[in-house]
Amino acid sequence: MKLEISPATSIKGTLTVPGDKSISHRAAIFGALASGETRITNFLCADDTLCTLDILRQLGADVIRDGANVVVKGIEHFQTPDKPLYCGNSGTVMRLMAGVLAGQGIDCTLTGDESLSRRPMMRIVVPLSMMRARIIGDGEKATPPLRLQGCPIHGIGYPLPIPSAQVKSAILLAGLGASGQTTVIENVPSRDHTERMLEGFGCKPEIKVLSRGRKAITVTGGSKLRGTNVDVPGDISSAAFLFAAAALRPGWQVTVQNVGINPTRDGVLEVLEAMGAKVLLDNQRTSGGELVADVTITGAPLRGVEIGGTVIPRLIDELPVLAALATQAEGETVIRDAHELRVKESDRIEIISRELRKMGANIEEREDGMIVRGPVQLRGAAVASPPGDHRIAMTLAVAALVAEGDSIVENAQAIQSSFPEFMGTLNSIVQR
Ligand code: S3P
Repeated sequence: MKLEISPATSIKGTLTVPGDKSISHRAAIFGALASGETRITNFLCADDTLCTLDILRQLGADVIRDGANVVVKGIEHFQTPDKPLYCGNSGTVMRLMAGVLAGQGIDCTLTGDESLSRRPMMRIVVPLSMMRARIIGDGEKATPPLRLQGCPIHGIGYPLPIPSAQVKSAILLAGLGASGQTTVIENVPSRDHTERMLEGFGCKPEIKVLSRGRKAITVTGGSKLRGTNVDVPGDISSAAFLFAAAALRPGWQVTVQNVGINPTRDGVLEVLEAMGAKVLLDNQRTSGGELVADVTITGAPLRGVEIGGTVIPRLIDELPVLAALATQAEGETVIRDAHELRVKESDRIEIISRELRKMGANIEEREDGMIVRGPVQLRGAAVASPPGDHRIAMTLAVAALVAEGDSIVENAQAIQSSFPEFMGTLNSIVQR
């Protein structure tokens, strides 16, 4: 699939975005592990999260979906699946499910598409093996397929070597099925949806704040989850493409209603503000343990900024589109401490630098980030997203809005994995 994008003359509109991907995965998984029924509203209906539902069905959970409404009848203990569990394009599905299945002592194989099959699973194989799970992947990075052999596992204390919510969640979910207690120590906060949602399912983890802002998060093996209702907020990582689009030019504006603004996810708002865009939060409320608001972004003259340190995990998925936005900012934008971008659905540092350069951007690739110098007049071009990376395709589409001439984004089918309605949504606010 290719996108054909012509430049915008202005952007204005109010809309919503589909449900949060991280929260949708977790709500379904926790519902399947819980006793009783879990009703999920505004569930993200996209390839990644539909994979989660299919896997849970294969494991014996009763999952009924009617559009964005999902009812999961939990079974507490999963059945051994009769074929490999396909995780599609999603690292979150594979890593979280590996933790859950290790805790449940299930024999199974987890597979993925071409992009996922290249991603490192050693980061979960190491702690799960320390818990005495039998889990192996391929080669020194333990790439998928991941093979699990059911056996009893034991709680551990584990300092996270990288700030990763996927790794943290895999260990905590395994810990629910392990003997004793399992503690994850976080030096830098990563998204905390697992901790918040465990509380909603009646299984609040113990959280201790340690020196230098570190946190110890503990779950007790054998704790039971109780089914509940989850209303999924709009995904800030999808909204970010619309925020960045509005921020491209002074006076352009978008309001995205009902967006999750969890403080471990809202780094993009901080950076947009630092770059000069106007950020307004309205109607702030809490829904199911998550902070939600209507967010209005208004474009204004932009300046380059430094993005690094502890903000990185709070905006890791938004860095490609922030790099595109930085091409329109006065001066230098330096993105550092973001090595993790190299092991996402593609090597996002290499690809985003290469493709934006085709549009005339001034970007220097660094081992752990990028330096973007602006402002430049982008030009329409034929650019390509890696077939397995949704966020690159959407980033290039946003950049094309301020290019001179039309652009074509090849291989955009990956948008289906997180934001199938993206083009329709974008076109509804763009004037040409
Ligand atoms: C996610 C965590 C992040 C993020 C990913 C979703 C999650 O990955 O990039 O899109 O749902 O836990 P890491 O935790 O590996 O940084």
